[in-house]
Amino acid sequence: MIKLSNISIGYKKESPISTGMNYTFEDNKIYGILGASGCGKTTLLRTIAGLTQPLEGVVTIADDKKPYMMHQKYTCFDWLNCLNNIMIAEKVLKTGKLNVEDARNILARVGLEEHEKKYPHQLSGGQKQRLALARTLFVKPSIILMDEPLSALDELTRIQMQDLILKTHRETKNTIIMVTHSREEADKMCDVIIELEQFKREDK
Ligand SMILES: Nc1ncnc2c1ncn2[C@@H]1O[C@H](COP(=O)(O)OP(=O)(O)O)[C@@H](O)[C@H]1O
Ligand SMILES: [Mg+2]
Repeated sequence: MIKLSNISIGYKKESPISTGMNYTFEDNKIYGILGASGCGKTTLLRTIAGLTQPLEGVVTIADDKKPYMMHQKYTCFDWLNCLNNIMIAEKVLKTGKLNVEDARNILARVGLEEHEKKYPHQLSGGQKQRLALARTLFVKPSIILMDEPLSALDELTRIQMQDLILKTHRETKNTIIMVTHSREEADKMCDVIIELEQFKREDK
């Protein structure tokens, strides 16, 4: 469970992007956040992730679960090949449960199995985004925050990756909060769709 209690988001106290936001995200659901460009979707995800402090109010996350964020400007480690771009997650998190076979498996599921020795500069934008998606899914986080995770993909690949995210969601029973600008994508993937402005009206 993730609870927003009367939070204000933004970067300057005197000019918050949005104020008085209340909402409770339940476990094991997929939430879609829609809203015009610049309305604060990324800022909200960053605030939930703890990367930006709320200007007011608190974000409570049950059981000390740490959200894993897939950024809008998806991250690749340029000095590591694709396989090690996945394995770095294990080096950081040190769960001891994730191994090279799992990494190869997830690379295959995003269609990069033949590219494991390539470096990010040898990949297209869409392939880099799929690499970042693979790293996110590899660590099986219980809470995933995804900021326009499929924005660089062609239509067919986008549908395949939507299906992969849905399948992984059913397998791992995670909670996903995803920002998308596609109403169609939100309708297909999300249990609950929220326009950013709606957080003010919700009082759960
Ligand atoms: N690091 C930052 N410092 C100051 N202002 C920022 C920063 N990041 C974003 N903003 C501003 O905050 C507003 C919301 O941005 P953002 O959350 O990225 O919107 P969205 O993801 O909905 O397009 C924009 O006006 C943007 O210019
Ligand atoms: Mg954004």
